[in-house]
Amino acid sequence: MNEIWSKYVQGIQTLYCSRKIQFSDYFAKQYQELFAFDADAPLKILESGCGPGALAGALHRWYPNASITAIDRDSAFIAFAKEHEKDIDFVEADIAHLPFDDNTFDITISNTVSEHVEPSVFYGEQHRVLKSDGKIIVLSNRRTIASQADCLKESDYEQAFWEKAKRFDQIENQYHIGEYAQDEAQLPLTMAQYGFGQLQRNYLLHDLSADIYPKEMALAIINSQRACELDAVDSTLVSLSEYFTEDEGIQMKALINQKYDQRVKEYEQKNQLWDTQVKISMVLIGKKL
Ligand SMILES: C[S@@+](CC[C@H](N)C(=O)[O-])C[C@H]1O[C@@H](n2cnc3c(N)ncnc32)[C@H](O)[C@@H]1O
Repeated sequence: MNEIWSKYVQGIQTLYCSRKIQFSDYFAKQYQELFAFDADAPLKILESGCGPGALAGALHRWYPNASITAIDRDSAFIAFAKEHEKDIDFVEADIAHLPFDDNTFDITISNTVSEHVEPSVFYGEQHRVLKSDGKIIVLSNRRTIASQADCLKESDYEQAFWEKAKRFDQIENQYHIGEYAQDEAQLPLTMAQYGFGQLQRNYLLHDLSADIYPKEMALAIINSQRACELDAVDSTLVSLSEYFTEDEGIQMKALINQKYDQRVKEYEQKNQLWDTQVKISMVLIGKKL
């Protein structure tokens, strides 16, 4: 039973809420144009490092004729995904040892995963399970342009909490998070090195500023940021339990909820705050040679 990522790195709600937005139908056309899959074909698609399953769910909506398998080694993510995203084969497995035969899939896809796995292992396994001529798609987050509304600014109490957490946090080093991150020039070269050609590199820009959306999406955006902060408190309490008390966690969560309740109120009262969250992601596509 491996729950390292969901417990210590990014919680279920952090990943599920943010990816539900990133892969919402608002952006379906952008992805569909880039992916250029034959939507009528019975494609076999593998998602590696699927987390709680939002991208797999979007692929199922956008390509109902495809059969989708999604793997992750975090058992809590897989259990959650099975419960929340239907008609997808979610499997608990390691990217370094994919439990599939050679030449099985038409497409392999991943989002913000390749930076955590040694490249010869990551691309070697993707290459092995792809059919000849199969397509690999690697998505990664590149930049965020962000500016906060005043009502979301951290209180002194929150600042002190995060500063203390930073002093003791060793999680990123301990679990090799982002150890194999590559820049926009390196990544295509690496993909070519491990047997992929006809590379295409594209960027997607998503403006996730709450003010510009109708209510359902705006609240999803605000509450996704809330979930991310609440999850970060939980991970801190679990990983640094010797330095934090439960009461500190309770106080933090109350302050966070207060801020986001206020942000929701401002939205509902139609007060434009112009707080901004623009995300740029890279979509790298290659063919197995
Ligand atoms: C940044 S998260 C991204 C999750 C998901 N793709 C998303 O966008 O929400 C990285 C994911 O890769 C998974 N992961 C990292 N190394 C892995 C490995 N060797 N085998 C399987 N999963 C792995 C983690 O458990 C985590 O779910």
